[in-house]
Amino acid sequence: MCGIVGHLGCQNTKGILLNGLAELEYRGYDSAGIAVLNNKDRHIFKAVGKLENLKEKTTQLSLNEFSVGIGHTRWATHGKPTEENAHPHYGSDTYIVHNGIIENYQELKTVLQKDGFTFVSQTDTEVFVHLFEKYQKNHTNNYDAFKSALSEIEGAYAILLITDSDPETIYFAKKGSPLILGLKGDEKYFASSDAALLGQCSDVHFFEDGEFGYVTRNEVHIESVTEKQIKFQNAKLPSDKLSAQKEGYRFFMEKEIYEQADVLADTLRGRVLDTGIEFDELDENLFDGISEIKLCACGTSYHAALTSSYLFERLAKIKSSVEIASEFRYKEPLLTKDTLFLAISQSGETADTLEALKMAKQAGLKTLSICNVDNSSIVRLSDASILTRAGIEKGVASTKAFATQVAVLWMLSLYVAQFKKSLDTKELQNELHTLREVPNVTVIKDAIHEKTKRLAKRYLHGHGFFFIGRDVFYPLALEGALKLKEISYLHAEGYPAGEMKHGPIALADPELFTIALLSENLLFEKTKSNMEELGARDSTICCVSSYMYDKADDFIVLPKCNHYMLEFYEMMTATQLLAMEIAIKLENDVDMPRNLAKSVTVE
Ligand code: F6R
Repeated sequence: MCGIVGHLGCQNTKGILLNGLAELEYRGYDSAGIAVLNNKDRHIFKAVGKLENLKEKTTQLSLNEFSVGIGHTRWATHGKPTEENAHPHYGSDTYIVHNGIIENYQELKTVLQKDGFTFVSQTDTEVFVHLFEKYQKNHTNNYDAFKSALSEIEGAYAILLITDSDPETIYFAKKGSPLILGLKGDEKYFASSDAALLGQCSDVHFFEDGEFGYVTRNEVHIESVTEKQIKFQNAKLPSDKLSAQKEGYRFFMEKEIYEQADVLADTLRGRVLDTGIEFDELDENLFDGISEIKLCACGTSYHAALTSSYLFERLAKIKSSVEIASEFRYKEPLLTKDTLFLAISQSGETADTLEALKMAKQAGLKTLSICNVDNSSIVRLSDASILTRAGIEKGVASTKAFATQVAVLWMLSLYVAQFKKSLDTKELQNELHTLREVPNVTVIKDAIHEKTKRLAKRYLHGHGFFFIGRDVFYPLALEGALKLKEISYLHAEGYPAGEMKHGPIALADPELFTIALLSENLLFEKTKSNMEELGARDSTICCVSSYMYDKADDFIVLPKCNHYMLEFYEMMTATQLLAMEIAIKLENDVDMPRNLAKSVTVE
């Protein structure tokens, strides 16, 4: 979602803010802005579109004296992506950047307007600036005004505020949206993700919900409603800059598709042993008394969860249910303590998944998370967590994170199978052997990539795509369709192959492209019949399989293998490449597709 940064110190504040925003730009790129204050001047710049536009506007600004500054890259929630709606928002001498949503902003705005405050934006954020300036009038110091303003807002926020009347201080608050403070000597750095801090500072504090305070040249003050003085955590970030570069690939997405074989090897390392699966991070009693696993996630992570629900039941013989986090939160779910709540999130910051996790904790459930980002909110809140080790994923359309989530979940299902003794030694050995093959089958073959390029030229018209599959290939069909629509903006739907005849087959004609995921190892005949039903109604069929189905119009031919999960990974890379090549043909921005954000920290 949006990204925020802050800096206080004598270094080049403008450069630090812009570099930090560049690291966060993939999270939101409708517009961006910075505000910088020092004892002499104030500067504010905003620009719609990519960060480049903001950089151009700030070329004349050079700062080497002590300054405070805040910056923001926006993914619009309230109000269109315009300069007025871009952050920082300001009043007469106060500037603010904010991630999250102030839910009661409409009520607050009405009161503030009656009090004579004029609003220039349609955003929820602007109310905070005016609230603060209102309280400044009847408080003797700015910090009290900041706290009074905070006490009035409801919702989720990470806020940084600076004001001309106090140009050596940054005020901050965190609830529901991530915020980190980093220190290096006297310099203070803020960011909504550690990606913006890597290489700047290594000593950091990950704010907990409800913490707020201020920093000055010589002071760091953190408190919450219940604790008057909270110690700076001094958590460590790696000191080298791991910033992902494209390394010759056209897009981060392409690089990330190609590096899946390597990151999957990392995911398995030290976990797939000769005798079974080992997770050092799990307490061996975690599954005691557990008779059901409830998986909860959003988007691509939800598809990984859905894939694993087949594996948990098939391999571990444990009941599993899957919930979309935004639905789970409001369905008044019945939760029992024999259920393990398993949250899955690449970023570890997705608001809906985080809130669902909080609900599970409140109901007294044991919680486990599978995340790609250590120290993220979801990791910190869960009783236990397993990291997917995919490395920073920059492409907004998730690829390698999904691949590693599925691998961790598959390993977890075998880990549970070991406890429950639901597989005999031979079956377990076969699964372990197959898992070790995953990095090999995800190495991209030139012929397959070339084929997707050729198909991409032909699949640009028509009235839509259906991705179909059965069993684990159904969630993969959902994921294939999601990838395509995210970056090509073409209509695509994922469907269980056997369900087409219950309605969607009415759409079949030559202009309907069906991408059929045909496994030779699982439900082969059943899926083939479903494809025949579509072919008989003239749908154009592209068969993704190691089997040459002679009635298909097109093929992506995969190497033969003897386990359905290896086919799963082969089909996964093929559908990722197909989506990417179609988007490239359409000249879309593959890494930053319209309307999307990498990390969705609002509801
Ligand atoms: C799609 C995609 C999203 C995310 C979803 C959840 O390519 O990346 O659908 O999967 O927003 O995000 P995380 O996994 O960070 O919780």
